[in-house]
Amino acid sequence: MLKPLFMWAGGKTKLIEEYSSRNLLPEEFDSYIEPFVGAGAMFTWAYEKNPDAQFYLNDSNRYIMAIYDAVKTDEVTFCNIVDRYQKDYLGLPGPEMQAKNAKGKTIWVPNPAGATNKEIEKKYREGRSNDWNKLWKENVGYRTRRSYYFRVRQRYQENNFQRFSTFDSATLYFLMKTGFNGIWQTKKDTDLFNTPCGTMRHKARIYDRENVMEWSKALQNVELTTGDFMETLRYAFGREKCFIFMDPPYRGSYADFGVDFDDRLQQRVVDYLNCAKHIGSDVMMSNRDVGDGFFTQRQGTNIIETFDVTYTLGAKKQKADGTYEATKAKEILMIGKK
Ligand SMILES: C[S@@+](CC[C@H](N)C(=O)[O-])C[C@H]1O[C@@H](n2cnc3c(N)ncnc32)[C@H](O)[C@@H]1O
Repeated sequence: MLKPLFMWAGGKTKLIEEYSSRNLLPEEFDSYIEPFVGAGAMFTWAYEKNPDAQFYLNDSNRYIMAIYDAVKTDEVTFCNIVDRYQKDYLGLPGPEMQAKNAKGKTIWVPNPAGATNKEIEKKYREGRSNDWNKLWKENVGYRTRRSYYFRVRQRYQENNFQRFSTFDSATLYFLMKTGFNGIWQTKKDTDLFNTPCGTMRHKARIYDRENVMEWSKALQNVELTTGDFMETLRYAFGREKCFIFMDPPYRGSYADFGVDFDDRLQQRVVDYLNCAKHIGSDVMMSNRDVGDGFFTQRQGTNIIETFDVTYTLGAKKQKADGTYEATKAKEILMIGKK
């Protein structure tokens, strides 16, 4: 079974099981539109259900759409490049290593060889960031997973003429798989990936090559577009059994994807849903209920289902001791009904 290619804030994998157990998903469709695809968890469900359907996947993030495009059209080169990064990275020490505790249980302990060296990093400070390229060249003894990650990220950001080649998409994919879980942070005044490194606790691999190959196969039947979600409505016209799943950035989570998704845009999503149901599509939209009745006021004849969820990515609350606590919230699923 296909698994999402990367972690993404708002990933739907867990909720899909809940949607299925409440019988909310359509039994039959022969085309599928996902206007806010992100990591595409719902697409993986839809593809499993009917691999012969015609699929349309869209997201306004042109960099992740370029990853899908590279996986669709140039998967072997894509994987070979990621493998190369993987080999270099795994060969370097991380900030932690595995050891056995007194009870024989495997635990993570600090690894001095891969520890952060603030002293060295400070010497390469340039404005808001470090010159990791220079640091890498001049400090052979400080070649760690951390310095490697930031050096690759710097080179990716500085390469401002390509960025949509298979090489750039594979580079971004490596960064997304080793960067801080599911967060898409951007460099100031740009839309470029600027997420810090993650825990770097990788052992034998950083990604699943087989899954990428499976995606490549699945994407052969998929039209990929980058743009505003509204533009995808045209694919629904004239189709009898069309399923549309909308998962926009949630209300109150504007910072998660580096886009300002305000209430005017949330209103456009509801407008899209109403329009799609009138042309006969099975359409649904997930969102967050922040308790102000925004969606119930716009419900009309549509159905609203609610779900209690716990966020583990993106929307965590920081506790007084600096650690993070998973946040409990209410999500909704608005289902188009005439
Ligand atoms: C909540 S995420 C989707 C998560 C996805 N369902 C998953 O399972 O990973 C929302 C997505 O909407 C995209 N987005 C934001 N504004 C958009 C717009 N105007 N049109 C299309 N996509 C947009 C973001 O780039 C982001 O990937």
